[in-house]
Amino acid sequence: MDKIYKVAIIGCGGISHMHAGWYVNEPRTEITAISDIDEGRLNAYGEKYEVEKQYTDYIEMLKTEEIDLVSVCTRPKHHAPLVIETAKHGVKGILSEKPMAENLGQGKAMLESCAQNGVKLAIDHQVRFSTPYQHARQMILDGAIGDIFRIHGICGGGDLKDNATHTVDLMLYLHDDRPVSWVIGQIERIGTPTKYDLHSEDFAVGYFKFEDNVRGIIESGNDTAPGYHHIYCYGTEGEIELAAPGGPSIRYRNQETGGAWETPELPPGITPVQDLINAIEEDREHRSSGHCGYATLELLMAIYESSRKRQRIQLPMEEMESPLTLMIEDGWV
Ligand SMILES: NC(=O)c1ccc[n+]([C@@H]2O[C@H](COP(=O)([O-])OP(=O)(O)OC[C@H]3O[C@@H](n4cnc5c(N)ncnc54)[C@H](O)[C@@H]3O)[C@@H](O)[C@H]2O)c1
Repeated sequence: MDKIYKVAIIGCGGISHMHAGWYVNEPRTEITAISDIDEGRLNAYGEKYEVEKQYTDYIEMLKTEEIDLVSVCTRPKHHAPLVIETAKHGVKGILSEKPMAENLGQGKAMLESCAQNGVKLAIDHQVRFSTPYQHARQMILDGAIGDIFRIHGICGGGDLKDNATHTVDLMLYLHDDRPVSWVIGQIERIGTPTKYDLHSEDFAVGYFKFEDNVRGIIESGNDTAPGYHHIYCYGTEGEIELAAPGGPSIRYRNQETGGAWETPELPPGITPVQDLINAIEEDREHRSSGHCGYATLELLMAIYESSRKRQRIQLPMEEMESPLTLMIEDGWV
């Protein structure tokens, strides 16, 4: 019989319902305990998912209950402290919401705490599990469009850390999570916008080079070309277009299709929770591992840093604070 993984969810707000759905539909998991500092939300969530063990203090929950998997579904400022502390309490895996953290210093500390405690860390960039993107990545690996040389991503609306974090993460995923050498970028911030309690910007553009010379372009914010997680992959022998506005979720053209657009048949998908269990049992990295989350956060931070320094930023980034925060503190934006 399969092992049953005992789950705790920390933060019972909007996105936690997506996590609960994954656990409820996965026979190898049961939601054992939940935590929220807001008692009303906690009780309503417990009632909805029939979880009796409810805690306003997540540390007390982790000390009292035997938990295998934890979903961290709080706002970004809390991701690092909660993940770092949770990793010390004998859990096997943590699925923490995006963006990974407020800055790279926090992201690094999350990776260290999970490594030291033998915990598999996953960041919830769940669009990696959306089958059109999964299939496109496989087609690229299989050479369906020859050698890929450019990836153009568009995330209309929102900002880099809230929405385009998914688009950038997908661009890295599509190129097999290869390392990026440098990033150049610019942002515009009008007024004092925030998103999920973090400083935000209105518009951003980033251009970057993977170490193998493939180029990426990301447009994010209020005046992009149309599209949401719209990604165009250019290869020497064909093209793949994902989430084309008004078009299918995936289409491609190459010599085999005679240059005409075709939509491939998509494989069945899995959820981030299923991959977390598989990663634990096979002792491998999650598809959206902490390291992948860090690489995505680093690229976002490098766009801010390039805007701040007015120069190209070589990776790995040295600045561990958010350059957007530094620019705001210095009164530049
Ligand atoms: N993956 C996605 O596509 C996606 C979509 C929407 C939001 N998100 C992300 O999910 C995160 C949460 O967003 P949301 O809309 O659910 O926020 P929310 O404000 O609705 O929920 C956060 C909950 O965390 C609780 N909380 C705060 N500190 C806590 C603590 N110490 N212990 C226990 N509970 C605590 C709050 O009381 C609140 O109920 C954000 O980082 C956001 O970017 C991801």
